[in-house]
Amino acid sequence: MKKGELWLSLLICMACIAAVGVLQAQARPSACETCHAKITPGIVKDFNRGKMSKVLTCIACHGKSHVSEKDVAKAKLPTISTCKKCHPERVKEYMGGKHALGLLPITAFPGFAHQQPQAFIAGQKGCNGCHNLGVTDESVLNSKVRKYYRYGMDCQNCHTRHAFSKEEALQPEACNSCHTGFDHAQWEMWFHSKHGAAYVTDRKAHRGPTCQDCHMPDGKHGVMTAWGFLALRLPEADKEWMGYRVTILKALGVLDANGKPTKRLDVVKKANMVRLTKASWDAQRAKMEAVCQKCHSATFAKENLKNADQMIKASDKILSQAIDLVAGLYKDGIIKKKTNQATFPYPDLLTFYEVNTTIEQKLYEMFMDYRMKTYQAAFHIMPDYTTWYGYAKMKQTLVEMKELARNMRAAAGQKS
Ligand code: HEC
Ligand code: HEC
Ligand code: HEC
Ligand code: HEC
Ligand code: HEC
Ligand code: HEC
Ligand code: HEC
Ligand code: HEC
Repeated sequence: MKKGELWLSLLICMACIAAVGVLQAQARPSACETCHAKITPGIVKDFNRGKMSKVLTCIACHGKSHVSEKDVAKAKLPTISTCKKCHPERVKEYMGGKHALGLLPITAFPGFAHQQPQAFIAGQKGCNGCHNLGVTDESVLNSKVRKYYRYGMDCQNCHTRHAFSKEEALQPEACNSCHTGFDHAQWEMWFHSKHGAAYVTDRKAHRGPTCQDCHMPDGKHGVMTAWGFLALRLPEADKEWMGYRVTILKALGVLDANGKPTKRLDVVKKANMVRLTKASWDAQRAKMEAVCQKCHSATFAKENLKNADQMIKASDKILSQAIDLVAGLYKDGIIKKKTNQATFPYPDLLTFYEVNTTIEQKLYEMFMDYRMKTYQAAFHIMPDYTTWYGYAKMKQTLVEMKELARNMRAAAGQKS
C-alpha cells in the first residue's frame, strides 16, 4: 500500500468508526423499529437476526427523513454506495467484477429492451429481475430513471435483507435464484455433479467445492471467468476454431460482414463481456487452476479444463454451420424480414427470441440453450447436461434447420 492510500484507508476507517459510534449512541429499539415491529414485523425480526443490528439502526441505510405513515416516500433506499461507507474493500472488489456490469447488456441493446413490456424490464419481472445490477447513485432511486419501480440493489442478492448474513452468502443456494434454468443452469449442473453431492451430503466436512469456493476464493467479491457467458476470447491461436468464431462474431454484430469491428464491439468492451487479450484470459484461468489444486493434482485439473475448452470448440463448429445456413437464406432473399439490417447478411443473435421465422427461432435456441449447456456443464462436471441437453440437441437442431431451409427454398422455387 502506498503512503497516500494508507492515509485514505485510515480516514475511511475512522469515518466508519465514527458513523457506527453515532449510531450506537442512539436509543434502541429505535423509533423506526418500534413502529415497524407492527407495520413490517418480519423485517424487524430479520434485522435483529443480523450482526449489524448490534451496531447500527434502520437510519444507517434508510435515512431519517421518513418518520411516520404520512411521509413514506421520503424513506431512502440504499444502493451500493450506502454500504460502501462502511465496507469499502468489499465494494471495491465487487465493482471490479462482472456483477456490477449486469445492467449494461440490457440497456446497451435498446432495440431489444423496447420490444418488451415495461413490467418485464423496468418492473424487474423479466430480464431485470436478475440484471438490475450496479446502481451506485442513491439519488437515482427516487428520480425519473426509477420512476416505474424504484427497488432493487446488489448486495442483498446474496446477503438477503435484512439479516445481511455472511453464513447465508456462503451457501451455494445464495446463487441459485439467478444462476439457474434455460441459459445458465449452473445451479442444476453443480447440484447434480460429484462436487455438489460431496458438498450436500456433508456440509460440515465441506469436501466438495461450492460456487463461492471456485468463484469467490478468499471471499473476493469481484466475480469473473476466463470464457465468460458467451464463451468467446481473442486472440485465438487455433486457426480452425478462429474460423468458426469469426462467423459467430458476425452474427453477434461485433464484426461486420467483411470482418471489420463494429460499434457493438465498444459495448462488448465496456461490459467486459469477452476477455480481449491473452493475458486477461490466462490470469482468470490461472486463478481457477489454483482453486482446483487445493484438492486435485495440477495435471488432473488442467486435463479437465482443457477438455471443457474443447467442448466449446465442438459446439462452435455446429453453431457456425447453423449461422451460415440462415445467412444463406438472408442472402438469397428467402428470408425477407431481417432481424437487424446492420448485421446483414448475418442474423443478429442478440435479438434473442424477437425473430420472424421458425428457422431463426431454432438458431436462437441452439445459441442460448444448447450451446450454453454443452460447455457450461463441461466446466461444472455434469456430463448429462453436456450430452443430452447440450451437444445432442445441437446436432438434432442442425438437422431440423437444414430440412427447414430446404423446404423454404423449395417453396420459393429455388434449389437447395
Ligand atoms: C409511525 C410508524 C412509522 C415510523 C416511526 C417509521 N415508519 Fe417506516 N413505514 C411506516 C409505514 C406505515 C410504511 C408504509 C408501509 C406500506 O407501504 O404499507 C413505512 C415504510 C417504510 C419503508 C419502505 C418504503 C418503500 O418505499 O417501500 C422504509 C424503508 C421505512 N419505512 C423505514 C423507516 C425508518 C428508517 C424509520 C425511522 C427513521 C421509519 N421507517 C419510521 C411506518 C413507520
Ligand atoms: C454505518 C456502517 C455500516 C453500513 C452503512 C453498513 N454496514 Fe454492514 N456492517 C457494519 C459493521 C460495523 C459490521 C460488523 C458487525 C460485527 O461483526 O459485529 C457489519 C457487518 C456486515 C456483514 C457481515 C455479517 C455477518 O454475518 O458476519 C455483512 C454481510 C454486511 N455488513 C453487509 C452490509 C450491506 C450489504 C450494507 C449495505 C446495504 C451494509 N452492510 C451497510 C457496518 C455497516
Ligand atoms: C434468472 C435470472 C436471469 C434472467 C431472467 C435473465 N438473465 Fe441474463 N444473465 C443471468 C446470469 C446469471 C448471467 C451470467 C451467466 C453466465 O455467465 O453463465 C446472465 C448473462 C447475460 C448476458 C451476458 C452478459 C455478459 O457480460 O457476458 C446477456 C447479454 C444477458 N444475460 C441478457 C439477458 C436478457 C436480454 C434477458 C431477458 C430477455 C436476461 N438476460 C434475463 C441471469 C438472468
Ligand atoms: C444495512 C442496511 C439496511 C438496514 C440497516 C435496514 N435496511 Fe431496510 N432495506 C435495506 C435494503 C437493501 C432494502 C431493499 C432496497 C431495494 O430493494 O431497493 C431495504 C428495504 C426495506 C423496506 C422495503 C422493502 C420491503 O421488503 O418491504 C422496508 C419496509 C425496510 N427496508 C425497513 C427497514 C427497517 C424497519 C429497518 C430497521 C429495523 C431497516 N429497514 C434497516 C437495507 C437496510
Ligand atoms: C455473489 C454473492 C455476493 C454478493 C452479491 C455480495 N456478497 Fe458479500 N459476501 C459474499 C460471501 C460468499 C461472503 C463470505 C466471504 C468469506 O468470508 O469467505 C461475503 C461476505 C461479506 C462481508 C463479511 C466479510 C467481511 O468483509 O468482513 C461483508 C461486509 C460483505 N460481504 C459485504 C457485501 C457488500 C457491501 C456487497 C455489495 C457491494 C456484497 N457483500 C455483495 C457474497 C456476496
Ligand atoms: C441477482 C442475480 C444473481 C445472483 C444472486 C448471483 N449472480 Fe452471478 N451473475 C448474475 C448476472 C446477471 C451476471 C452477468 C453479469 C454481467 O452481465 O456482467 C452474473 C455473472 C456471474 C459470473 C461471471 C461470469 C462471467 O461472465 O465471467 C460469475 C462467476 C457469477 N456470476 C457467480 C456467482 C456466484 C458464485 C453467486 C453466488 C455466490 C452469484 N453469481 C449470484 C446474476 C446473479
Ligand atoms: C469446482 C469449481 C467450480 C464450482 C464448484 C462452480 N464453478 Fe462455475 N465455473 C468453474 C469453471 C472452471 C468455469 C469456467 C472457467 C473458465 O472460463 O475458465 C466456470 C464458469 C462459470 C460461469 C461462467 C459461464 C460458464 O458456466 O462457463 C458462471 C456464471 C459460473 N461458473 C457460476 C457458478 C455457480 C453459480 C456455481 C454454483 C452453483 C458454480 N459456478 C460452481 C468452476 C466451478
Ligand atoms: C474443495 C475440494 C475440491 C476442489 C476445490 C475441486 N474439487 Fe473436484 N472433486 C472434489 C471431490 C471431493 C470430488 C469427488 C471425488 C470422487 O468423485 O470420488 C471431486 C470430483 C471431481 C471430478 C469428478 C470425479 C473424477 O475423478 O473424475 C472432476 C472432473 C473434478 N473434481 C474436477 C475439478 C476441477 C476441474 C476443479 C477446479 C475447477 C475442482 N475439481 C475443484 C473436490 C474438489
